[in-house]
Amino acid sequence: MRTLAHPHHTLLPSLPRQRRSFATGATKRRCWSPAAVAMAADLRTEHDKKVDKENKLWGGRFEDSVTDAVERFSESVSFDKQLYKHDIRGSRAHASMLAKQGLISDSDRNCILSGLDEIERQIENGEFVWRTDREDVHMNIEAALTDLIGEPAKKLHTARSRNDQVVTDLRLWCRDAIDQILSCLKQLQVAIVMLAIENEGLIVPGYTHLQRAQPVLLQHLLLSYVEQLERDSSRLVNCKDRLNICPLGACALAGTGLPIDRFMTSDALGFAAPMKNSIDAVSDRDFVLEFLAANSITAIHLSRLGEEWVMWASEEFGFLTPSDKVSTGSSIMPQKKNPDPMELVRGKSARVVGDLVTLLVLCKGLPQAYNRDLQEDKEPLFDSVKTIIGMLEVTTEFAQNITFYRERIQKALPAGHLDATTLADYLVKKGVPFRTSHDIVGRSVALCIAKNCQLSDLTLGDMQSISPAFEGDVYEFLGVENSVEKFCSYGSTGSGMVAEQLSAWISKLGI
Ligand code: ARG
Repeated sequence: MRTLAHPHHTLLPSLPRQRRSFATGATKRRCWSPAAVAMAADLRTEHDKKVDKENKLWGGRFEDSVTDAVERFSESVSFDKQLYKHDIRGSRAHASMLAKQGLISDSDRNCILSGLDEIERQIENGEFVWRTDREDVHMNIEAALTDLIGEPAKKLHTARSRNDQVVTDLRLWCRDAIDQILSCLKQLQVAIVMLAIENEGLIVPGYTHLQRAQPVLLQHLLLSYVEQLERDSSRLVNCKDRLNICPLGACALAGTGLPIDRFMTSDALGFAAPMKNSIDAVSDRDFVLEFLAANSITAIHLSRLGEEWVMWASEEFGFLTPSDKVSTGSSIMPQKKNPDPMELVRGKSARVVGDLVTLLVLCKGLPQAYNRDLQEDKEPLFDSVKTIIGMLEVTTEFAQNITFYRERIQKALPAGHLDATTLADYLVKKGVPFRTSHDIVGRSVALCIAKNCQLSDLTLGDMQSISPAFEGDVYEFLGVENSVEKFCSYGSTGSGMVAEQLSAWISKLGI
């Protein structure tokens, strides 16, 4: 029996790991003598001892521990430990409810509450040992509580399953994450409004199809991003309202025969109400989908802004320059100054969209109620939130560190006949049908191209040779400054309208 000195390396490889249990000595094949089993039991590794102990979490049905590969594959504690605060919060509410309902004694509740306080303290001080053999955050905390306070801890899981527990934690986590993103969105809005304030009166070419279209105030363009971000916020607020219902007490899927008070836990956790259907409560991940969809739209907005600012920072546009604080150089080209942060914002939007797609595909084939696949909802959720927060923070800092080149922009303005549509509107005011005026201005632009000049350089005679509707006042409508002044429709780029929008944003954002 000397070979048993290293049982793992000699005898054990011939036995599939899931087929042995050191604690009981039982093996499915029963090919070990009782003496060999006894010796092997004494020589268990620390790990095996732990695993055997943890088997008790599943109760008497299990003799064997999972294989290492299954343990590694199934554990979620490495990422779901970030739910610890919400898990403990849920357990506090649950324990208090159990005591109120007479399902546990007040002294058990007190032990549980102070044990949970201690565990939270240990986690926050980095003293807590997270164990993958305890699978997830829920079992880690519950098992640690049992290690800490003993018997009362075993009552905490009364009328609760990890199925309702995990989704309660997740809703609480999303609520906090949404608040964090809302505050980042607001900071970015403030940074963009500040840029608008600093750049009063600056006219830039407005583009459609990336071709020069009409002159617009830079303020107007910047506020268009603020509007987008406002919709992003309202989508999140809306999502938060809808997710704020409590699944706790749905248990595995069917509810419980024990006299729990789901309204009490729902209230204690700040939810609007308990979820009405216990099967829906453990099944539903719509709130994660909605959240990730909202983040994806925000990511796309930031990506578009990134694209615009990257283009504007190019030599070809030369409309803005980022300060050194938000630019990087090239390892080979000494002259380079790259707007990397906004390129990465554009790039990281792909991850956020990918996270949404992951979750959509994850949910697609699931039968109703809890399925273990749902453990896979967390990493995309966490990644989406972390990424979108980073994108918002960096975009805010970029906005705080760019300068628009007034002179270069102004020099570039004459190109592209940006005042042509204003000229068409002028003719409409003179009674010319719009389609005819469109044609007349088209011919005027063709004349400018032939003469290599601007519309405002044409003589009245030149213009009248195309249409007698032109009169001396036409020059009040030509040139980008005049053109911008003429806009007066609600929401337009006219300076009066833009000033109104700007002051509305200043007061809404409390600037
Ligand atoms: N770690 C699991 C998850 O994230 C917790 C729920 C497990 N439930 C179960 N019946 N195995 O989904």
